[in-house]
Amino acid sequence: MKTIVVFNQKGGVGKTSTVTNMMSELTRRGKKVLALDLDAQANLTSFCKIIDAKYTVKDVLSKTVDLDEAICSTVYGDIVPSDETLGLELLRFASDPSFILRVRTILERLPQGRYDFVLIDCPPAVNQVTASALVAANYVLIPTEMEYFSAVGVGRIAETIEQIKPFNNGIKVIGVLLVKYNARRTLTKALESKLSQSTREMLGCDIMNAKIRFTVDIPSAQACGMSVYDYSSKSKAAFDYEELIAELLDKININTKGDKYHGRL
Ligand SMILES: Nc1ncnc2c1ncn2[C@@H]1O[C@H](COP(=O)(O)OP(=O)(O)O)[C@@H](O)[C@H]1O
Ligand SMILES: [Mg+2]
Repeated sequence: MKTIVVFNQKGGVGKTSTVTNMMSELTRRGKKVLALDLDAQANLTSFCKIIDAKYTVKDVLSKTVDLDEAICSTVYGDIVPSDETLGLELLRFASDPSFILRVRTILERLPQGRYDFVLIDCPPAVNQVTASALVAANYVLIPTEMEYFSAVGVGRIAETIEQIKPFNNGIKVIGVLLVKYNARRTLTKALESKLSQSTREMLGCDIMNAKIRFTVDIPSAQACGMSVYDYSSKSKAAFDYEELIAELLDKININTKGDKYHGRL
């Protein structure tokens, strides 16, 4: 089981969109996926059309219920939903020194082989919940927009990861993922090379080769509760997310030859 945390302290950069489309792509490849929605805004939960869940991630994190009781099944894999009550618990979590290990401890109890991937969608903040997710991470994927200040954001992320290392020294940043990419924008090439340089200097990794191009298919698919592939398999973002998964599995060194693949390769 590999745990991939999708993290950027900035909001609106494509974290949740990336998690939803990764869930769909991995499931299409026959992988068993569990997603944790750690954002009190619960966008991933809404995308998965989960309304009024009996238990949420807050109950699991506060040890009120076991992980199993909070898992909901969807067409794109299993998910532990969230809701706004998670926000109210943050102070309590922050006053508990053992909380930083909570997500890891919870995931360690999963039976071996039950899931191939755990994907964690983070809130747009560095709080106790994000820190606990990062401590549980094998890999971190950092979606970012192509803006002038994105390079500064990469520096902040690097500082956060450094603070996590004493608790999780195996944490590996898999790469920075450019989302809402527009190759025709004049500034794009200059920004991309600046971002690529800061990523290498500060995070010690590269920008992912796969880039998620800007397209209205992403919000349109979300409005229908579908992955972009299911919404329109010819969408450029559907190709981009396919490429992302191929690159990711390659980087994680997972042999994909035996994959059950539903749909085009
Ligand atoms: N490739 C894309 N092209 C166009 N819009 C996108 C793309 N990716 C994400 N979006 C839109 O950007 C907004 C923020 O994305 P979201 O995934 O919710 O970000 P975050 O989880 O980081 O806050 C959403 O409205 C989403 O539909
Ligand atoms: Mg989000």
